[in-house]
Amino acid sequence: MTLIPYLILPWIAVVIAEDVDPSFKVGVLMVDGSVRNRFDIQRIGPAIDIAAESCQSKYNVTLSLLPGYYPRECSAEMAIGRATDLAMNTNISAYVGPACSDDLQVVGRFAAYRNIPILTGLGDVLKERDEFRTLIRMSYDLKDKAHAILAFLEHFKWKRFGMIYRQNDVYYTAMADLLFYLATSADFEVVCQQSYIRAANKTILSNLDKIMETMRDCSRVIVILGGDKDVREMMLIAKRLDMTSKADYAFIYTELFQNEAKGNLSWSRGSESTEDKLKLKEAYEALLIVSLNQPYSEEYKLFSERVKELAATNYNCTYTEDVVNYFTASFHDAVLMLCEVINETKLLGEDPFNGTIITSRLKNKKFNGISGLVTINEKGDRVADYALLDQNDTVKGNFEVVLTYFGSTKEYKEVSSIHWPGGKIPKDKPKCGFDGKDPACNKRGLRLLETSLIITLFLLIVIIIIGVLTYRKIRLESKLANMSWRVRWDEITFLKDIRNSCMMSRLSITSAKNHKVEL
Ligand SMILES: *[C@@H]1O[C@H](CO)[C@@H](O)[C@H](O)[C@H]1NC(C)=O
Ligand SMILES: *[C@@H]1O[C@H](CO)[C@@H](O)[C@H](O)[C@H]1NC(C)=O
Ligand SMILES: *[C@@H]1O[C@H](CO)[C@@H](O)[C@H](O)[C@H]1NC(C)=O
Ligand SMILES: *[C@@H]1O[C@H](CO)[C@@H](O)[C@H](O)[C@H]1NC(C)=O
Ligand SMILES: *[C@@H]1O[C@H](CO)[C@@H](O)[C@H](O)[C@H]1NC(C)=O
Ligand SMILES: *[C@@H]1O[C@H](CO)[C@@H](O)[C@H](O)[C@H]1NC(C)=O
Ligand SMILES: *[C@@H]1O[C@H](CO)[C@@H](O)[C@H](O)[C@H]1NC(C)=O
Ligand SMILES: *[C@@H]1O[C@H](CO)[C@@H](O)[C@H](O)[C@H]1NC(C)=O
Repeated sequence: MTLIPYLILPWIAVVIAEDVDPSFKVGVLMVDGSVRNRFDIQRIGPAIDIAAESCQSKYNVTLSLLPGYYPRECSAEMAIGRATDLAMNTNISAYVGPACSDDLQVVGRFAAYRNIPILTGLGDVLKERDEFRTLIRMSYDLKDKAHAILAFLEHFKWKRFGMIYRQNDVYYTAMADLLFYLATSADFEVVCQQSYIRAANKTILSNLDKIMETMRDCSRVIVILGGDKDVREMMLIAKRLDMTSKADYAFIYTELFQNEAKGNLSWSRGSESTEDKLKLKEAYEALLIVSLNQPYSEEYKLFSERVKELAATNYNCTYTEDVVNYFTASFHDAVLMLCEVINETKLLGEDPFNGTIITSRLKNKKFNGISGLVTINEKGDRVADYALLDQNDTVKGNFEVVLTYFGSTKEYKEVSSIHWPGGKIPKDKPKCGFDGKDPACNKRGLRLLETSLIITLFLLIVIIIIGVLTYRKIRLESKLANMSWRVRWDEITFLKDIRNSCMMSRLSITSAKNHKVEL
């Protein structure tokens, strides 16, 4: 009899535990075995798994990761399908992913409709951001990046710049539009812009020589919004046009991954000949690269190693990158931040399954992640930190981080000095205009000539006057010297019988020639 409760109780406990499953169900929407990009479950999955482990150990939050994978490439149809499937069958607490902007564009709306928080490490190109009420973006967005480019320009007091961008490309055209808009509303002047077209096989169809010649004559600071291959072609032309060796021009472009901006990859990774690569190395001295700031802390390296390990053992994937990229780390931080918020909500005695509460807590949050200090703004977007890289080692041609810009505080940190070709910072507008024919400059030149002429004339007149006066004085003096009546002091004798002071004028003067003359 007494045994029964002992037998039944554990069973009841198990049943209860199953009924109120305390775990948080997180739908993972991700491409499986991507053929196009590096954002698939094989590469990001390990980072999410590591975060889920930390959730348990750090925040006592149990996550159940539910797979919502779809094969081989980004697909809005598959993404929304997987997202609804998951939501129909379980009470999803949050979504993680997808890592494609177009897919996010649909799933984000669904998540808003169902009031489910959705966190992603990508999604930099998003239209109508405000409609995605429950979306948290952990990497960066285009606007943020455009702001960062302007911040770096501002640092060098460059208020005027030219722009070259790739047409027919969502990313670069959106970026160009944003940069133009933000620049003109912040007192910058986009002095000229040119665009080019690229075929699907990556050959540039536009006449780049002409474009570069145009830019040469209309700008000094040139922002290039295009891929690394395009930039290499442009820089070779720029070198040929003699735009890269003197302190006249500066070029800036953005690189997604810092690993690929650092070192010599930016100029050496292409299929150019060795000879061209050497030319590129030299040309790249005039180039600065903007990328997301990726802290290479000890912690980050350890995390990288673990991701690579898990990728190999659990996902049958070998990482080729030296350290994992910023976006992989962002996904990790997204999941961990979600857990911190769940923990906070629990501590406050609120419902951690309520999407409204979790979303609002994720916004305006500050979180110390593996990808650095994460600052989420009121919209739910991360305000990222950016790095400026320069070829500060011109012997090896290696690029290094020289300046960082912290988006949330708008502060700069100088890491290392910049190597400027020609030894000084180029001016955003040269004195005599971009083509050297500025009429204002010519006028000023003329005025300068006039003033110097006037000054010379004036000086000449002064010299002549002084000359004449001196001559006359000298002549007078020599005349005086020759005068026979000239009297010397020792030849003057005072009369003894001076009666009063008024008589002082009555002096007795002895002349050299005529002895004792009474005046
Ligand atoms: C929240 O996390 C802290 C550790 O960071 C832990 O001590 C606490 O128990 C957690 N709260 C709940 C409700 O699990
Ligand atoms: C961890 O969370 C569970 C329920 O989610 C709770 O029963 C337990 O007390 C928590 N542990 C700590 C240390 O807070
Ligand atoms: C989801 O949660 C609601 C209430 O919170 C419950 O009524 C419903 O049965 C749950 N659905 C599933 C599929 O667990
Ligand atoms: C790439 O495509 C363009 C036209 O679309 C063609 O002119 C060019 O020859 C192609 N280049 C290569 C290397 O296939
Ligand atoms: C680029 O750097 C790597 C490692 O520092 C070096 O092995 C390689 O030779 C360099 N490539 C060129 C083209 O200089
Ligand atoms: C792992 O990947 C390789 C190719 O990348 C494939 O040939 C092999 O079958 C895969 N192994 C498993 C267990 O999926
Ligand atoms: C979630 O929380 C909000 C605000 O606290 C509340 O208005 C709403 O009713 C809650 N939703 C559910 C389903 O409990
Ligand atoms: C280049 O910058 C790095 C820091 O980003 C610094 O460690 C290195 O010494 C610099 N190299 C030169 C040649 O100045």
